[in-house]
Amino acid sequence: MVIGLSGSPRRRGNTEQLLDRFLAGASDAGGIVEKIILSELKYPSCKGCNACHKTGSCIMDDDVNGLYDKLLAADCVVVSSPIYTMGITTELKSFIDRAHYLWVRFFVLGSHIISQEEKKVRRGYFLSTAGMDQDDVFDTAFPMMKAFFNILGFTHCAGVQAGNMDEYGGITGHPTALENAYQTGTLAVKEILSGYPCLEQEKR
Ligand SMILES: Cc1cc2nc3c(=O)[nH]c(=O)nc-3n(C[C@H](O)[C@H](O)[C@H](O)COP(=O)(O)O)c2cc1C
Repeated sequence: MVIGLSGSPRRRGNTEQLLDRFLAGASDAGGIVEKIILSELKYPSCKGCNACHKTGSCIMDDDVNGLYDKLLAADCVVVSSPIYTMGITTELKSFIDRAHYLWVRFFVLGSHIISQEEKKVRRGYFLSTAGMDQDDVFDTAFPMMKAFFNILGFTHCAGVQAGNMDEYGGITGHPTALENAYQTGTLAVKEILSGYPCLEQEKR
């Protein structure tokens, strides 16, 4: 099962199109895919009450908890977000902060452990677009994605990032990004079905 999370508040924009190509590639390779639009869900941000430090559960009862159960059961999670003010969108950051109860389960209470062996075949990908053609424009997103995939027990595999959208006039004007996303989705599912670990890990 491949789950795509769209973190852009703009429907069918550059980043969602990139996600769609990844999911199309994954589906064509035999994967079962599902796309979730974070801006259509209702969830407040983490309140930092730390109740989860005792219970391992979040006191908020909304769309997020069921979705996290789904992500934990997935083989592959592909997260997409445009760059907003040199970072990921509010929708995605708020969603990621709500995973704090899972961080507690894995790293404090030890009540739900995903082994290193399991983690090797569970894959997380990050797709992003930015308006500017600037080397460091995606830099702040990578540590957040690494933490997110680590909390959920996925290996952070190399995804697709495409800058310079302003110059290209949007993702359809980019020479390689959409095709790269399709090929990355195809390869992800082929390797998952063959039981191969992710060799091309994200280094940033
Ligand atoms: C509020 C806002 C902030 C943005 N901040 C940046 C930025 O800091 N750097 C950048 O390169 N592009 C920035 N952009 C441009 C978007 O990253 C770019 O247009 C992206 O492709 C939009 O993706 P979408 O169509 O999926 O929403 C910003 C756009 C918006 C709306």
